[in-house]
Amino acid sequence: MFSSGSKLTLRSLSLIHAAKGGVSFCKFRYKWHRNFVACSQCRGKKDDANFSSLFIPVPVTPNPDDINVGAELTGALNKSDLLKVLNKFYQKKEIKLLALENGLDNYLLHQAYVSFRRYCLEAEALPVDLHVVVSDILQGAGHVDDIFPYFLRHARQMFPHLECMDDLKKISDLRSPANWYPGARTLTRKIIFHAGPTNSGKTFHALERFLNSKSGVYCGPLKLLASEVFNKSNERGTPCDLVTGEERKFSQSNGDPSSHVSCTVEMTSVNVPYEVAIIDEIQMMRDTGRGWAWTRALLGVMAEEIHLCGEEGAVELVRSLMSTTGEDVEVRKYKRLTDLEVEDSAMGSLEAVQPGDCIVCFSKHDIYSVSRGIEAKGHEVAVIYGGLPPGTKLAQAQKFNDPDNSCKVLVATDAIGMGLNLSIRRVVFYSLIKPTVNEKGEKEMNTISVSQALQIAGRAGRYGTQYEKGFVTTFKPEDLNTLKNLLSQSPEPIVKAGLHPTAEQIELYAYHLPNSTLSNLMDIFVTLCTVDDSLYFMCNIEDFKFLADMIQHVPLPLRARYVFCCAPINRKLPFVCTMFLKFARQYSRNEALTLDWLCRNIGWPFAPPKTIIDLVHLEAVFDVLDLYLWFSYRFMDLFPAASLVRDMQAELDSMIQQGVFQLTRLLKNSETGVSSGTSAAIDEEDFAINRHKQSYLRGGKDTEMPQVGRGRLTERLLAQGLLTPNMLQELRREWTQDDQSEPSDSPTSHTKKPRQKKKHK
Ligand SMILES: Nc1ncnc2c1ncn2[C@@H]1O[C@H](COP(=O)(O)OP(=O)(O)O)[C@@H](O)[C@H]1O
Ligand SMILES: [Mg+2]
Repeated sequence: MFSSGSKLTLRSLSLIHAAKGGVSFCKFRYKWHRNFVACSQCRGKKDDANFSSLFIPVPVTPNPDDINVGAELTGALNKSDLLKVLNKFYQKKEIKLLALENGLDNYLLHQAYVSFRRYCLEAEALPVDLHVVVSDILQGAGHVDDIFPYFLRHARQMFPHLECMDDLKKISDLRSPANWYPGARTLTRKIIFHAGPTNSGKTFHALERFLNSKSGVYCGPLKLLASEVFNKSNERGTPCDLVTGEERKFSQSNGDPSSHVSCTVEMTSVNVPYEVAIIDEIQMMRDTGRGWAWTRALLGVMAEEIHLCGEEGAVELVRSLMSTTGEDVEVRKYKRLTDLEVEDSAMGSLEAVQPGDCIVCFSKHDIYSVSRGIEAKGHEVAVIYGGLPPGTKLAQAQKFNDPDNSCKVLVATDAIGMGLNLSIRRVVFYSLIKPTVNEKGEKEMNTISVSQALQIAGRAGRYGTQYEKGFVTTFKPEDLNTLKNLLSQSPEPIVKAGLHPTAEQIELYAYHLPNSTLSNLMDIFVTLCTVDDSLYFMCNIEDFKFLADMIQHVPLPLRARYVFCCAPINRKLPFVCTMFLKFARQYSRNEALTLDWLCRNIGWPFAPPKTIIDLVHLEAVFDVLDLYLWFSYRFMDLFPAASLVRDMQAELDSMIQQGVFQLTRLLKNSETGVSSGTSAAIDEEDFAINRHKQSYLRGGKDTEMPQVGRGRLTERLLAQGLLTPNMLQELRREWTQDDQSEPSDSPTSHTKKPRQKKKHK
C-alpha cells in the first residue's frame, strides 16, 4: 500500500501511524466492511444516498496560525502540481473502492474530496505529514495512493459518524425492547387479556380486580378516563392517586402516594411494584404516534398480574410479545352487553333526527354546519369534540345524558370513541372519511378502519341506560353499504407494536455526533436503528422533529431540549406553537415563567367568547395552560405558577362551556328567525357562521361592521389553525376602507372587551 522509496517516506509512514493512533489501515477496512454489511441488512428503509445525505458535513478549514514545518523540511509545494496529484488520486477506481470500504459512498466521497481539495489548495501550511507525503509523490518517491490516509482523516473530521458506526448501531439496536425493563424481567407476570367489542364490560371486570387488590395501577388512553377511574376508585373506598402529564392528585391529604394510582399510559411507572396493573385499550400499541407508550407499559410494568383490555385483534401480537418475555397470556372473551343493530336506511336529512341520536363528524367544519342545521330544525344540541376542555366535555355529556334535559341530540367527533359515558340510542355517521396521519407523518383522507367504525358505532346503546339497544346508520344513503361492510368485519389484527428512542439513546447519539441538530439526530437514529420488524415498528417522529426544528436556534442543554420536544402539542395551532417557542426562550434565559409573565404573553384575562373565532382561540389558550402545567412537572423551578394556572384553567373551562352553550342557542335563534331581543346578552353580530342570516335580518343595510373574515372559509382556516385571531384582526383592519369610521366596537378588541349588544333594525 505505501511505497518506501526514501528516508522521508519511511518517516511519513511513522507519521501516518501516529496520526491514526497506531491503528492499522487494514483493521479499519475490516471494521467498516462489517458495519456496512450489518447496516444494509437491517435498514433497507432508505437508499444509501438518502441515508448519507442525513449527515451534515462539519466544515474543516486550515488553521492560519500553523507554522509551515513541511515547507521547512522539504521545500514549498507547487499548488498546480498539487492539484494534478489530487485529481489523479480522486479519479482512481481503487481509491473509490477503498473509500467505500471506509464508509464513503459516492455521495460522501464527492463531498469529502471537494472539501479536501479546497483545504489543500487554500492552506498556507499543510499538516506536516501530508506535506511530506505530497512532496514524496511529486519527487517520484511516493505513490498517489499514499494520500488516502490523510484524505480519510479529513473525511472523518467532516463526517464524524464514519468513526463511530459500530457505537451508533449498538445504541440504536432496538431488537430486544423487553430487556430495557430489568424490573419487570425479574418477575413472571400473569397476563390476562379481556378481549371484546366496545361496551362489553372489559374495563368493568378489570377494574373490579384492581379495586380489590392490595396495590394497583390503571393505565388509560385519555386524561378523562384516568380521572374517571381515579374518582370511581376513591368513591368505592380504595384510595387512589391521579397522575397525568399535566396533573397529580393525591388521595391522602399529606401528599403521600396511595397504593393505587390511575394514570395516562405515558405516565406509567416501570419502577414501582404493583399487585395489579390494567392497561386499557391495548390495541393502541399500533398507534403511529403514541403506540410506544402502550408497548412500554406492557413490557415494563412491574405487576404480578396485568389486565389488558382491548380488541380481540391484539391478542396474537400480545402472545408473540409475551413469548419474548416468557410470560403466559390468558384470554377472556366478552360479548356486547346490549344489542347493536345496523339500520336499513340512512338518515338522509337532518329532518330525520331522533332523540338519543349522536351524529358523528370527522371535521370541525362538519360539527359546526350539522349543529347549525339541527338547531334550525328546532332541536337543542350538545357538542363534543377533541379540542374542548374536560369540564366542557363532561358538561356537554351530562346535558345530553340527562333524561330530564330538553337536549336530546349530540353532535360529536370520534372523540366519543373512548372515554366518555354517553347514553346514545343511535350513532349516525355523517361521513366515513377521516383525515389521518400515516407512519411517515403524511396526512391522508381515508375511509375509517373497521376498528374505528366498530369502536364508534359501539357507543350506541349503553348497559344500564334508557337506551339498552343500540342503533347505527349513516347520514348519506350512499355510505350505508360501506358502513354495513365495515361493521360486519372483525377488527383488523394488529401486527406490530410501536417503539421510540429514549432520551438516553439520543443523548449518546449526540455525544458521538456533537455537531448534529436534534432533529437530524432523530433522523439518523431512525434510519440506523435495528427493529425486529416482525413485532415492532418505529413510531413517527414528525411532531418531535417539528418542535426540535422550531427551537433549534434557542440555546438549551440537550436533555432539556429533548424534554421540550416531547411536549404534547397540536402543531396545527399556531398560537400554541408560538407560546411553546416563548416558553423555550424564557427557559433558555433561565428566567422563571411567572404568572405575570404568562398572563402578559397570552393576553389574560379574557371575556367570554362571542364568536367561533374567540372560542377556537380560547381552546388554544386552554392548551397553552395545559402545556404550562406539563412543563411544571418537568422543570418545577422555572414553571412555578402551576396551582394558579390550574385556577385559570378552571375559569377558562367554564368560560368555554358557557360559550359552547350560548353558541348553540344563538344559532338556533338566528336560524329560526327569532329576533336578538329574545336572546339574552348575546351579540349576534359576532357569530361568524351566521353571516347570511344576519344580513337577511338587517336587510343587507348593516355597514357598521366590516364583514371580512366571517364566512365559512374563515371558520375553516381558524378551525384548522391556519389563521389566528390576530391575523384575522389584521386582515379586518386592512380590508376596512376607512379606519377612522370604524365603530367603537372595533373587532380589534374582541377578545378583551365584551362588545355592546347591537339592535336590529
Ligand atoms: N357486570 C356489570 N355490572 C354493571 N355494570 C356493568 C357491568 N359490566 C359493564 N357495566 C357497565 O357497562 C358500561 C360498559 O362497560 P365497559 O367496561 O366500559 O365496557 P368496555 O370496556 O368493554 O367498552 C360501563 O358503564 C360499565 O360500568
Ligand atoms: Mg373499556
